[in-house]
Amino acid sequence: MAELTDSYGRRLNYARISVTDRCNFRCAYCMPTEGIQCLAHDDIMRYEEILFLARNLHELGVGKIRVTGGEPLVRKGLTDFIRELRNMLPDIKITLTTNASLLKQHIRPLADAGINSLNISLDTLDPQKFGKITRLGELQPVLDSIDAAAVSGIDEIKLNTVLIRGFNDTEVEDIIAYANERKILPRFIEFMPLESDVWSKDSFISWAEAAKSMRGAGDWEPEPTSSDDDGPARYYKNSRSGYTVGVISAVSEKFCRGCNRIRISASGNLRTCLFDPSETPLRDLLIARDPRALQERIINTIKNKPRYGEDVRDGALHMSNIGG
Ligand code: GTP
Ligand code: 5AD
Ligand code: SF4
Repeated sequence: MAELTDSYGRRLNYARISVTDRCNFRCAYCMPTEGIQCLAHDDIMRYEEILFLARNLHELGVGKIRVTGGEPLVRKGLTDFIRELRNMLPDIKITLTTNASLLKQHIRPLADAGINSLNISLDTLDPQKFGKITRLGELQPVLDSIDAAAVSGIDEIKLNTVLIRGFNDTEVEDIIAYANERKILPRFIEFMPLESDVWSKDSFISWAEAAKSMRGAGDWEPEPTSSDDDGPARYYKNSRSGYTVGVISAVSEKFCRGCNRIRISASGNLRTCLFDPSETPLRDLLIARDPRALQERIINTIKNKPRYGEDVRDGALHMSNIGG
């Protein structure tokens, strides 16, 4: 089978495909208050195009597809699309990143479609704070969805918490307990500086600093990661409580050396790095259903994947456009 290998010898076997740039939340760390332009309906890849893209990526050795947004579940027909993707590619790992506001009503079809894992964003357990950070969100439907996901039979459920100084750095232990009690893996993500409107030095806190305030900090021991398609998270287990936690130190320790990812935006543009705004359009070849030209363009583009991601703060990169 063909493989996608970049100029630094990294094998790219994990694709993050955004199915929409829209979101029903406006998380303060992800979007500015105003001025977010949404793509027109016609500028978004149709599901048939995404299936064609996925088949070609699979032929190029991609074994894991993460469906991202915006919020993927605001797009109509998402669960049918996931079922079709699963039927077309029975052996790949299919995963979804979601804010879980709409997850409860979709959890059965997602589980039945054989989705392998879900990553759910949850930054606080406090309803008021939740309203504040998401600007439009309500906590209770998210908690109900998490409970539904926890018993859905889906193999792997993770929580994503973006660490923000003065906001949730004192909730670390509560979130760890909340998730572990439901057999869900909590993960703390360092707040990444993607754009100046939303990131500030004052709100950044490293995992090392946030973890210091935990009781029994010395009881956490590193755990081996489970497989080679795992992302940038490192995992720890508490020898007393048995609880586990994941940490994505996206800022204090770069993990570019082991990067295995490519990204495709909702409009069908290929991006080789989260921090590199250059894009290669693929949509014309998706519409033309031209597998040979498509694969060739992907192979040529990944040659330009940068060795390291540089921080971008020019306002050009909204996380919601890239899907994380
Ligand atoms: P899995 O490892 O498959 O669970 O996925 P993931 O953790 O990469 O995906 P998820 O969508 O849950 O993203 C979690 C956090 O990791 C988000 O803040 C992403 O923006 C961040 N992230 C994902 N991929 C990269 C990457 O290539 N580089 C950096 N710096 N951050 C990333
Ligand atoms: N830094 C780190 N993580 C972020 N996310 C969104 N914006 C940022 C940022 N600036 C996370 C969300 C979601 C994932 C896709 O990306 O919390 O879990
Ligand atoms: Fe929040 Fe995710 Fe929506 Fe961004 S895309 S506003 S992080 S829910």
